[in-house]
Amino acid sequence: MQPIRNRRHGGWLAGLAAVFLFGGLTAGAALPDLLIADFESPSYGSWEVRGRAFGPGPAAGTLPNQMRVSGFKGRRLVNSYHGGDDTEGELLSPPFRIERPWINLLVGGGGWPGETCVDLLVDGAVVRTATGPNTKPGGSEALEWRSWDVREWIGRLARIRIVDHRRGGWGHINVDHIVQSTRRLEAVERTRTFEVTARYLLLPVRNGAPKRRMQIRLDGAVVREFDIEYAVEQPDFEVFADLTAFRGRKLTVVCRLPGGPEALEGLKLADELPVSWGLYREPLRPQYHFTSRRGWHNDPNGLVHYAGEFHLYYQHNPYGIQWGNMHWGHAVSPDLVHWKELPVALYPPRYGDWVFSGSAVVDWQNTSGFGRGGRPPLIAAWTSTGRGECIAWSLDRGRTFTEYEGNPVYRHRGRDPKIVWDRHRGRWVMAVYDEDKGSRDVLFLTSPDLKHWTPRGRAKGYYECPNFFEMPVEGEPGQSRWVLYGADGPYAVGAFDGEQFHPEHAGKHRLWHGNFYAAQNYSDAPEGRHIQIGWGRGITFPGMPFNQQMTLPVDLTLRRTPEGLRLTARPVKELESLHREALERERIGLPFDPETFAGLALDAHRIRLTLVAGQAEKAGLRVRGVEVVWEPGKGRLVCDGLEVPVPGWAVKDGSLALDLWLDRGSIEVFVGDGAVAISKGVHFAPDQRGLEGVAEGTGARVEELRIIRLASIWFPENG
Ligand code: FRU
Repeated sequence: MQPIRNRRHGGWLAGLAAVFLFGGLTAGAALPDLLIADFESPSYGSWEVRGRAFGPGPAAGTLPNQMRVSGFKGRRLVNSYHGGDDTEGELLSPPFRIERPWINLLVGGGGWPGETCVDLLVDGAVVRTATGPNTKPGGSEALEWRSWDVREWIGRLARIRIVDHRRGGWGHINVDHIVQSTRRLEAVERTRTFEVTARYLLLPVRNGAPKRRMQIRLDGAVVREFDIEYAVEQPDFEVFADLTAFRGRKLTVVCRLPGGPEALEGLKLADELPVSWGLYREPLRPQYHFTSRRGWHNDPNGLVHYAGEFHLYYQHNPYGIQWGNMHWGHAVSPDLVHWKELPVALYPPRYGDWVFSGSAVVDWQNTSGFGRGGRPPLIAAWTSTGRGECIAWSLDRGRTFTEYEGNPVYRHRGRDPKIVWDRHRGRWVMAVYDEDKGSRDVLFLTSPDLKHWTPRGRAKGYYECPNFFEMPVEGEPGQSRWVLYGADGPYAVGAFDGEQFHPEHAGKHRLWHGNFYAAQNYSDAPEGRHIQIGWGRGITFPGMPFNQQMTLPVDLTLRRTPEGLRLTARPVKELESLHREALERERIGLPFDPETFAGLALDAHRIRLTLVAGQAEKAGLRVRGVEVVWEPGKGRLVCDGLEVPVPGWAVKDGSLALDLWLDRGSIEVFVGDGAVAISKGVHFAPDQRGLEGVAEGTGARVEELRIIRLASIWFPENG
């Protein structure tokens, strides 16, 4: 077996491809393909149409409310999602003569034999049939080649029938480009065996290619299994799998792929991630927000401070830029600013048993018994989608974890365990999202040892990823409260009696707005701080090999305001280590034009200002073309079109303090000394780098302005 080397397709490989393409075929090999239908015109032409599902003609791609359809050829395809999944119908081709050994066709959508299918009819009987791949929620609308061996009917007349007689989930079919051919195009299982002589396996990815299920096997046993948009040709980028655990062993990669036996030749081994990736120097790489080197991330998980390190675990798809294959990625930082990405900390034990969100704690008193030699274990708690709430322990500073053999520790319909130490009662509390009772609740459980959990009270009306913590009231010694919030941020303040949370007000409050989700607080943050990081949900970086970013770490405080107790958020002071040269101005009238700051090239910058609106209805800045404007009469701030209420107590003597953080794909705004926090994904025009002042009405000005350049957290030489 050839070792995997970093090489170009050529030499013996090109020879092999040539053998595959041209060898072993009959005289028919020279015959061109015969098109049966490409569905490129807006009508079905001579095909007979029954029912509503197929609409008036081939669809121009994705239909309303459908996931993105990909993998079809040209501009149109047959798509029976007209009117949604519940419509039905049939399409019947005119007769044609079978003149080639293969019929190739692109098929996607529902995987229901006889109900969402394409049939080949000879003498009115179904002799071949194909369906899409999907029967479960999720899945993919990508079309894939299917190939029918039709040698036995050469010379006979046939028809093709496309059927949709299925309602409900995946009750539709996608078909395109039906051709007679001398070649088979359907994917077949390919394998490649190699010795692990280097740390990383590099895998080529092409965005939008059909998702393939890939396995890595060791002595016949599957050790990794995941979905990947594997690039058979022209990769957009490479991703990587760390194979340290298999060093010196022989692994086999198995995947169904189209193309010839060379399809897995794109795999490479490497000791280092290639310099040619230009890691962190990508044009849209955020300069001081955490992003993963490759792939997708969502929720922060397991935020814990231990032995001088802030751990940031996170929901991670290492193999593509969309959600999927959930692992716990891992990064550490000494200061919440500079992050170092470490190997994946929790792998899914098998395909489909994903490692969903959760938290981490240091078990200082070794209540779990996993500690050794006086060393407390770090405990991670997560939702195994196959089993329930699980725990694992680490004695190597959170690098590797061992699963508790008694997993799951709790089974229910729900997810996202957040564990905190209840110092008043000396036991653990888990706040976990629960829908067992048919509603959306946070369920509280308690445990003496992290292994045995007793359900206690519940709080209604919180969706996913609960965060639950006790914190002091700012400036009121001896006063503290518990705060509970769900993934999208509405929170309540109240008391916790060890079993039940008692909010001290009606309704919920909100601190964060915009692209913000599933935030957590650090366990064991130094100096009793309440440090929070969220997921900047929906912040994208088109064309980049990574997707999504974390929000800036903030210190939360509980402040007494005229409206009651409210959370406030201030970017952690450690971020000031990124401050570089600053431009300072005072009393600038609004509006002002870009010439006022001619030569300013905004990129990674912090802009602090106090706004005075005077009699103006609007006053603010246009930052790289994006408006951040205060409308005092309406009591709101508008950030790139996002309207956010500003409470009266955030305005001091008629002026409003704004703290803007500008990065490659986002603006974060802290309003009125942390009274309101906004995270907003923005796609800036590359050539728009300036600053303007905007106002409608008179008397508006910027009282104080500081524009501070920020260094990159990735490269010291950048700053
Ligand atoms: C929130 C969430 C969690 C779940 C995780 C899966 O974004 O849906 O509820 O654990 O993401 O990635």
